[in-house]
Amino acid sequence: MNGLDALLSDVRRGMIPAHIYNDEEIFRLERERLFSRAWIFVGHESEVPRPGDYVVRRVLDDSFIIARGEDAQVRALFNMCLHRGMQVCRAEMGNASHFRCPYHGWSYRNDGRLVGLPFHQDAYGGDAGFPRDRQRLLAAPALDTYNGLIFVSIDPEAPPLADYLGDIRFYLDYYTRQSAAGIELRGPQRWRIKANWKIGAENFAGDMYHTPQTHTSVVEIGLFREPKAAKRKDGATYWAGNGGGTTYKLPPGSLEERLRYVGYPDPMIESMKRCWSAEQRDVVGRDGFMISAASVFPNMSMVHNWPKVGDSEQVLPFISIRTWQPVAPDETEVLSWFAVDAQAPPEFKSLSYKAYLMCFGSTGMFEQDDVENWVSLTSTAAGTMARRLLLNSRMGLLADGTPVSQALTRAQFAGPGEARTGYGEYNQRHLLSRWADYLERPPAPVAAGTAARA
Ligand code: FES
Ligand SMILES: [Fe+2]
Repeated sequence: MNGLDALLSDVRRGMIPAHIYNDEEIFRLERERLFSRAWIFVGHESEVPRPGDYVVRRVLDDSFIIARGEDAQVRALFNMCLHRGMQVCRAEMGNASHFRCPYHGWSYRNDGRLVGLPFHQDAYGGDAGFPRDRQRLLAAPALDTYNGLIFVSIDPEAPPLADYLGDIRFYLDYYTRQSAAGIELRGPQRWRIKANWKIGAENFAGDMYHTPQTHTSVVEIGLFREPKAAKRKDGATYWAGNGGGTTYKLPPGSLEERLRYVGYPDPMIESMKRCWSAEQRDVVGRDGFMISAASVFPNMSMVHNWPKVGDSEQVLPFISIRTWQPVAPDETEVLSWFAVDAQAPPEFKSLSYKAYLMCFGSTGMFEQDDVENWVSLTSTAAGTMARRLLLNSRMGLLADGTPVSQALTRAQFAGPGEARTGYGEYNQRHLLSRWADYLERPPAPVAAGTAARA
C-alpha cells in the first residue's frame, strides 16, 4: 500500500487517518497481517462441556468447528471439506460424533479424522487407492486457553498464548475467575452492525470520555446509582501486556464492603478472596478501583457493570464478553455472551442476566447509544474528505508528547502495567500502535497445507 509507513507513523503519534475505519485496502492488510497472526478469542470451554459438543466460530473469513472429541480434547477444525470444499458443519452449535459433508457425503469424526467416503471402493479403489487413515480436517495451527477462554491462531509461529496476553491476564481474572469453578456463559447473542470492528475495540479499551455525552439518557433514567456519569474521570484506565481497560472509583471501604457495594453476595465475595492474588485484592480493597470495560487486542472485549435491576436502590453486577468480528471494512458481527461465576447462587445468576440484557446485548441501552455513533463514523470514513483528515486521538498528552497526568504508582494502583486516572486516550493509542506493529510486517510465505500433512 502506498504511504503505509506514513500512515502508521501518524497512527503511532495519535493522529489517526480517518479512512482506516472504512477502507478496502486496510481491510485486506488486516486480513493478511493481523487476523492471520494474532491470537483470536473464539469461545469458552464451558460452551462445549461434553464429548461431541461443538460450536462453529470464525476467525475473519475462516470458519472453524470448535469441537470436544471423545478424548475430551478441544480442537479447532477448519470447516472445509477435503473433497470439494463444502462447509462440513452448517449448524451453529450442537453435539455430534461425526460431521457429514452435505455435498457428496464424506464424513469425519469429531476429532477431524476422515472415516467415510461414499462408494470408496468403486470411486477410489478403497483404502489401497485412497487411504483414509491420515486424512483429517485441517486443524487451526494453534489453540490454547486461559481460564477456559479459547483462543485460536492461524500462525504456526504464534508465540505462546500466555506470552501474547502478558499482564492483561491479571485483569482477565476479575471477569473469568471469581471462583475456582470459573465462569459459565450464556449466548452468544449475535448481530451485525454497519461499523468498522476497530471502533468497538477502542471504545471498550478506554473510552471513559464518551460516557457523560453518549450515555446521558441511561444515567438520567436512574439505571445507575452513581449520580453523575462525569464521575468517570475518578476511575483509572490501565494498559497491561496485550490489553487494557477502564475502572470506576468506589467509595471508601474494605474489599468486602466494596464488593458488596457493587452487589456481590457474601458467598461470592468469599470465593473471590480465595481466588485472587494479594495484588488483585488490593486494586479493589486498598486502591478502590473496580474494573469495568476492557479489550484484549485485537478484537475481544469485556464489560462489568452494576445497574439497578428492580425498583429498589439495589444494584447487581453482570459480566459480558464479546468479539468484534470483522465482516467487511464497514461491517462487524458482534458476538456477545453473558458470563457468570459457575458457583454463583441461582437467583444471582438470573438477576445478573437481567442486568446484562438491560445494558448490553442486542436490546441493551448502552449498546443502542454506542452503535449510533459508530455507524455514522464508519459511513463518513469512506468519503474523499476523510482521506484528508487526521483524527485527534492525543487526549492526555501535551503538544510535546508529555503526559497531562502522571501514571499511578504501585502504592496507588496495585495492578501491573501502566494506570492513570482522568481522561486520556492512552489505551486507544496502545491498541492502534499494536495494530500498526502487525500491519507493517509483511506476511511470511505460507506452504499449502494438505490434509495428510496435518
Ligand atoms: S465437498 Fe464434501 S464430500 Fe464433496
Ligand atoms: Fe458506550
